[in-house]
Amino acid sequence: MAHVNVFDTTLRDGEQSPGVNLNQLEKLEIAKQLERFGVDVMEAGFPASSQGDFEGVREIARKVRGVSIAGLARAKKSDIDTAWEALKEGVDPMLHIFLATSPIHMTHKLKKTPEEVLDLGVEMVRYARTKFPKVEWSAEDASRSDLDFLVRMIEKVIDAGATVINLPDTVGYTTPAEYGQLFKYVRENVPNIDKVTLSAHCHDDLGMAVANSLAAIENGANQVEGTINGIGERAGNAALEEIAVALTIRKDIYPYKTNLVLNEIKRTSDLVSNLTGMAVPRNKAVVGQNAFAHESGIHQDGVLKNASTYEIITPELVGVKSNNLVMGKHSGKHAFNDKVKQLGYELSKDKLLEAFTSFKLLTDRKKEVTDEDLFTILTEIQTDSDEVKKYVLKAFQVQYGTSNLPTATVALVAPDGTKLETASTGQGSVEALFNTLDCMIQEKIQLSDYQLSSVGRGRDALAQANVKMTVDGISVNGRGSSQDVLEASAKAFLNAVNRAFYHKEPIKDKVIQAQSN
Ligand code: KIV
Ligand code: ZN
Repeated sequence: MAHVNVFDTTLRDGEQSPGVNLNQLEKLEIAKQLERFGVDVMEAGFPASSQGDFEGVREIARKVRGVSIAGLARAKKSDIDTAWEALKEGVDPMLHIFLATSPIHMTHKLKKTPEEVLDLGVEMVRYARTKFPKVEWSAEDASRSDLDFLVRMIEKVIDAGATVINLPDTVGYTTPAEYGQLFKYVRENVPNIDKVTLSAHCHDDLGMAVANSLAAIENGANQVEGTINGIGERAGNAALEEIAVALTIRKDIYPYKTNLVLNEIKRTSDLVSNLTGMAVPRNKAVVGQNAFAHESGIHQDGVLKNASTYEIITPELVGVKSNNLVMGKHSGKHAFNDKVKQLGYELSKDKLLEAFTSFKLLTDRKKEVTDEDLFTILTEIQTDSDEVKKYVLKAFQVQYGTSNLPTATVALVAPDGTKLETASTGQGSVEALFNTLDCMIQEKIQLSDYQLSSVGRGRDALAQANVKMTVDGISVNGRGSSQDVLEASAKAFLNAVNRAFYHKEPIKDKVIQAQSN
């Protein structure tokens, strides 16, 4: 079977989803999980775009050693230099340069003629190869480009040293037949195409990203790009877990293999959803909560008689465990530490102790602690950055009655160590709590979204709150979990504020500093 490379861009294109803003620890945690999932290339970010991205990419290149790490750059020497600074310590660094080739983009965005674009692309690929062993060149908006211009340009950038050619459907406009035809045409008409990897990169604006990616593979693509849960700009990117499972379940039609470890899908999906705050729709293919639920009587009856009647994917294939009961009140430190390792976490001594304390507190209130509960607690602790600047929740109380005004009293420690205590009111308990926090926090806050969900099932389930807000103009998301919905909400609010501090410094100084090292 032919091999298809998997290029994951969750941390770059995925992170471009509105409202998603991961910090360094969160990016690293996702990167480690993507390595376990078995991707061949991981695009860790766009180093020249922000200080956070630069540092996130550098950290991943330093710490994640089993997979090629890529960084995005415009066709600009300064972007390429910055990307090199971020990636040079990686084991197998790759640069990803993009330059638009469609008439619409060349005329209106780049304001360049096709010949100027061609020369610039060739020059930048040649320059990038003086630093990077691998260079992917993307013809942005390839699916709306003139085919003969595309063919001419691809031949030239391969001669200049590109090792991967990517043909993105940037605006999610193409159809499977059309996109497949594009790959066939390029394979048949670019004389040196066999020297490189040919890659597909699809967006989901018309809901066809996965189908388009599969059509590309059938027509000569030997690399596919996408994100976990299909997160990304606008309607998102092709969902890698869907492509992986389609290639497995329909290998009669798609005789291709990848290096992906399918039973890591669920954990990867949960981690990305948890850290980005982008909930997975219940009916989402492969990873949605309902993907394996059979509701109608006829279906249940069929599945009981023989699962293959209505079940084409087994939950086990993608790592969904049917019995994930784990620990309770009497579980000791040793068993807990084993479980942490089994769940794939490597925690520092301090964080392990913090996690054990949280676990013990939870067992006082909840009879059975499941893998899902532990996953939520461990992710929260593992990705809690040790930023100096932080608001810490000390205590709070909310008074609510149907006939009086909801009032919240909160005690906080401010980033400079000052103890604060204030009370305020609102139309409901959550609003009273948020109004009080808002009064106590110096930064200007605008809340744009608030969501509450339960982790697992049952009356005593853990609550998870997610907020989206701007803090002094910086958009951030925040999350918090607790058995109490108000505590989870307060934690999410403060988590968002604390995360905003991380995104404040400008990149320039850091890059110059890194370059002079
Ligand atoms: O969709 C796109 O065109 C991109 C490029 C940066 C490759 O993400
Ligand atoms: Zn894209």
